[in-house]
Amino acid sequence: MIYLDNSASSFVKPREVLKAVEESLMHFGANPGRSGHSASIKTAMIVEETREKIAKHFGTTKPEKVFFTQGCTQALNLAILGLAKNGGHVICTENEHNSVLRPLEHLKRCGVIDYSIAFQNGKPCIDDECISACMQNNTYMVICNHISNVNGDKADLKKIGKFCKDHNLIFLVDCAQSGGHEKIDMQELNIDMLAIAGHKGFYAPQGIGALVCSSEITPEPILFGGTGTNSLELVQPDIFPERLESGTLPTPAIMGLNAGIDFVEKHFDEISNKIDDLTTFVNYELRKLNLPVYTQPENSHGVIAFNIPSMSSNDVATILDEHWGICVRGGFHCAPIKHKALGTLEQGAVRVSISYFNSFTDVQRLISAMKTILRKNKISL
Ligand code: ALA
Repeated sequence: MIYLDNSASSFVKPREVLKAVEESLMHFGANPGRSGHSASIKTAMIVEETREKIAKHFGTTKPEKVFFTQGCTQALNLAILGLAKNGGHVICTENEHNSVLRPLEHLKRCGVIDYSIAFQNGKPCIDDECISACMQNNTYMVICNHISNVNGDKADLKKIGKFCKDHNLIFLVDCAQSGGHEKIDMQELNIDMLAIAGHKGFYAPQGIGALVCSSEITPEPILFGGTGTNSLELVQPDIFPERLESGTLPTPAIMGLNAGIDFVEKHFDEISNKIDDLTTFVNYELRKLNLPVYTQPENSHGVIAFNIPSMSSNDVATILDEHWGICVRGGFHCAPIKHKALGTLEQGAVRVSISYFNSFTDVQRLISAMKTILRKNKISL
């Protein structure tokens, strides 16, 4: 199998992550933060260590404001629903995933907020001007996807962060695809909150994500229940992180994330260079075949989208899987506005997404498979 669907979930995982998950199941099985016995305290300590590593990785000094969630979707929902302002207006971008669009649309249909979508309109990326064009008197938040899961377009967070700071807007960034692949300093970029998925660029198991808050802005809870603290009170505690973390945390996934962060930090340059090189190779080789490629040539963030004009993207993905054992994702990638902007609402797109664990041979095989598909189907472009 050649796995080129790392934007959905990275696979394979580093040996260090596998070892950490095994270690967790063998030696850290108690419930973190629920009991006073030593086994529970030992587990809680490794959870807190992971929280601190995440805060440090993103340049914040507030580990107590790193909130573990089930994934990036839940982190984004927490930020959007937990900060919803009655009568307010939110700006998001054409690159948003349904994990942003659907909670916004839900709030709109409930009559709570309105929202606008900022478009690139021919620019290479979303920047402060695209956001500014959507401003209203009642805008209170900007939500920006960092790297598109459809075609790898990357937003200019520095300019947008400055714009948000200057206009006193909450700045929330979806780092599902960029976390682990890009250096992101929340203070430097004026990011109030960012959401990450453990199982993508950090090579953790599925089932763990986080909302990282770096400023005074903190959402209200959207999930209520046991926190292991203030147990006689019927109201959710005020203290962080417990206020936003009801229910038992998934220690095996958190320990996997802990090891994944170490792996990424240790190999950051190698990971970056490898992903850049392989992305560039695939992009140029697909262009040489005259296929429509929706990823800009200089865009090297590990995601490439393309089509064969006369075939559905899902059919191409199925042929690659069944005949060559190559896993890619066709269809719409849960990002309807981006597909509309790319003009791929009918066909979807074939998406190739690369990780550090892919080799040059993997992407060469993809290109030779594409050449064979074109030849066998007598497609000349
Ligand atoms: N959002 C993930 C993807 O892009 C699942 O495939």
